[in-house]
Amino acid sequence: MTENHDPAVDLTAAEAEVDLPEIGSRERYDMLMQVMRNRVTVRKFDDGFTVPDDHYDLILEAARHAPSGANTQPWQFVIVRDRDVKGRITDYFVAEQRDRAKRKMKFPTPDYRGLATAPGFIIVCSDMRWTRAFPVLHEDSELARMYRENAERILLQSVAAATMSAHLAAAALGYNVWWVTAIGQENAQKAMKPLLGIPDEMSVLDIFLFGPPAQKPYKRWRKPLDQIVNDGHFDPAHCLSDEALDDWIRKQRHRVMYKDASKID
Ligand SMILES: Cc1cc2nc3c(=O)[nH]c(=O)nc-3n(C[C@H](O)[C@H](O)[C@H](O)COP(=O)(O)O)c2cc1C
Repeated sequence: MTENHDPAVDLTAAEAEVDLPEIGSRERYDMLMQVMRNRVTVRKFDDGFTVPDDHYDLILEAARHAPSGANTQPWQFVIVRDRDVKGRITDYFVAEQRDRAKRKMKFPTPDYRGLATAPGFIIVCSDMRWTRAFPVLHEDSELARMYRENAERILLQSVAAATMSAHLAAAALGYNVWWVTAIGQENAQKAMKPLLGIPDEMSVLDIFLFGPPAQKPYKRWRKPLDQIVNDGHFDPAHCLSDEALDDWIRKQRHRVMYKDASKID
C-alpha cells in the first residue's frame, strides 16, 4: 500500500491568506471593539424592512470562518423569509411564554411576539452526531459518559462561536440582533422542524434575528473587568455562595436583562 504524504492543505497558500496587523496595533482592535460594543439586542424590529439578499451572504460568510472542535464546522443555517412561517414559529414562542407564566417559573420571559417582526430570521441547527468526531471513548463506562458530555460541550461551543460571528457581522452592517435559545425542548423541535423541512437528525439550537429596531436600542450593563478577571490565581470573591447567587437571581437578573446599563448600580 502506498502512503499519501501530500499535506492536507497547501501551507504556503494558506499562510498567504493570513493577514494580521503588527502585534499591538490598535487600529483593527478599535474597529472591532466598535462593532462588539454595538452588538445590541432588541426584541422588536421594523418589520417593513427587507434584508438585501447579499447581507445574508455577508453575515453567514462571517459564521463560516468561526473555529470549531476538530474543524468539523457542525453548523447549518436556515434562512426564513416566509412571513407565514415566521408567524407560526412566533406562535410557538408566545405559547411557551404563556406556559412559563402558568408554571410560575419566575423567569422574566421577554415578549416573543417581536419574533414575527424580524426582517432577518435565521435558524441555527446542528447535527449532534458530530460529537462522534471529538475525543470519545467507545465503551460503556463512566469515563465514556464524561467524554460524551464534554463532546456535547465542544459541539455547542463551536456552534456558539459561529453564531456569535454572524451576530457581529450583522452588527457591523448596522443591524440590531436577537439571540433566542428557548428552543431546546423536544416540543419546540417538533413544532419547528416540519415548517422548514429540517431532518430529524438535526437539532435546532437557536434562532438568530436581526434588523433595524422598532424602538431605540439601549446598551445593557456589563460586569467590570475586575469582577471577571483572575490573574494568576482565582479570586475567591468571584465565586458566589449559593445564597448570594440566588439573591442575585432574585434581585438583579430582571434589571440587567431589561434596563439601560446607566440604570444599574
Ligand atoms: C446563549 C444565549 C442565549 C440567549 N437566549 C435568549 C432567549 O432565549 N431569549 C431572549 O430573549 N434572549 C436571549 N438571549 C439574549 C440575551 O438576553 C442578551 O444577549 C443579554 O441580555 C445581553 O444583552 P445584549 O445582547 O444587548 O448585550 C440569549 C443570549 C445568548 C448569548
